[in-house]
Amino acid sequence: MSTYNRQLRLAHRPVGAAKETDWNLVEEPLPTPGEGEFVVKILQLSIDPAMRGWMDAAPSYIPPVEIGAVMRAFATGRVMESHHPHYATGDLVTGEFGVQEYALSTGAGVYRIDPRVDVPLSAYLGVLGLTGITAYFGLLDVGGFQPGQTVVVSGAAGAVGSTVGQIVKARGGRAIGIAGGEQKCRYLVERLGFDAAIDYKSESVRKSLRRHAPDGVDVFFDNVGGPILDDVLTRLARHARVVICGAVSQYNTEVGPQGPKNYLSLLVSRARMEGFVVFDYAPRYPEAIADMSIWLADGKITNLVDIERGSIIDFPKTLARLFNGANTGKQILDIGSEDPDDV
Ligand SMILES: NC(=O)c1ccc[n+]([C@@H]2O[C@H](COP(=O)([O-])OP(=O)(O)OC[C@H]3O[C@@H](n4cnc5c(N)ncnc54)[C@H](OP(=O)(O)O)[C@@H]3O)[C@@H](O)[C@H]2O)c1
Repeated sequence: MSTYNRQLRLAHRPVGAAKETDWNLVEEPLPTPGEGEFVVKILQLSIDPAMRGWMDAAPSYIPPVEIGAVMRAFATGRVMESHHPHYATGDLVTGEFGVQEYALSTGAGVYRIDPRVDVPLSAYLGVLGLTGITAYFGLLDVGGFQPGQTVVVSGAAGAVGSTVGQIVKARGGRAIGIAGGEQKCRYLVERLGFDAAIDYKSESVRKSLRRHAPDGVDVFFDNVGGPILDDVLTRLARHARVVICGAVSQYNTEVGPQGPKNYLSLLVSRARMEGFVVFDYAPRYPEAIADMSIWLADGKITNLVDIERGSIIDFPKTLARLFNGANTGKQILDIGSEDPDDV
């Protein structure tokens, strides 16, 4: 085990897209666990679009990362040293550990990974982690999806979006994805079983929806906001549900998010639009994980991950991949795989 811990601490609140100089690389002595604490060696970092929002001072559903604090990140890791009654050296865990090599934890918000379950570690940041849980409750609970209904999902080749489409297919619905680029769209249809995919970079979303959803859209699961949200609002079926999961197209704007122009479609369609935060479902996480585990084991859903290997220094450029559409599936930065026993 190393004797020091490298961390990325927030240096500036970005204007527009985050840049490398918005974080400082800091080296500290390795933390020593006190009574009721343990030290985790971080193996894989979850890279999330929300990280951009956490860098802003504006109040949100979670407090901002303070200037000088370790950048917030969810991660998986292995317990290296423990003075905690419920965590032993060698345990695999997942939690909010930050962009650093080692984290000191009291166990708050930490979940233990069962090593007997035969799934890759990355699944605990992907389909069996917050990604899958977000897709599950957003679609089934907020979206009220029922078998036979037509679901449109934006950001469809991304982590949450690709999971939403796969759950729709596993539960007997019609899935239409919206994603950037022909390659991603082909992947959605040919590999993930989507019924159709619309390349928003080369075709009109509004026109293509007329073709793919002639009877309207029952659930729109929106990850991106902006013009795509406006286009889908024009195709809502009666009593449709628009699920506001996120708005990645708006996170880097310097002028603030632009609202939808076509919101009166909600009135005409007797539809509703509702946002949600996955953390509110914490007491029900086991429900989602149980169902997702079965679908994963049955081959009905895939753990679609996009893993960059490197060190925490690679964090800024890995985060940027989400905003330029470089990722397909859950973006992960693996900083621990030099020890093959870890994963
Ligand atoms: N509400 C909650 O509790 C909750 C929890 C987790 C995540 N989220 C939200 O869920 C959404 C998806 O997160 P994720 O982790 O699954 O990320 P992701 O979809 O894997 O990555 C972001 C994707 O957004 C697309 N994108 C980037 N800029 C865009 C633009 N201007 N217009 C349209 N698409 C754009 C890119 O795909 P293309 O190549 O297709 O453009 C990129 O791959 C985010 O909005 C996130 O904040 C919400």
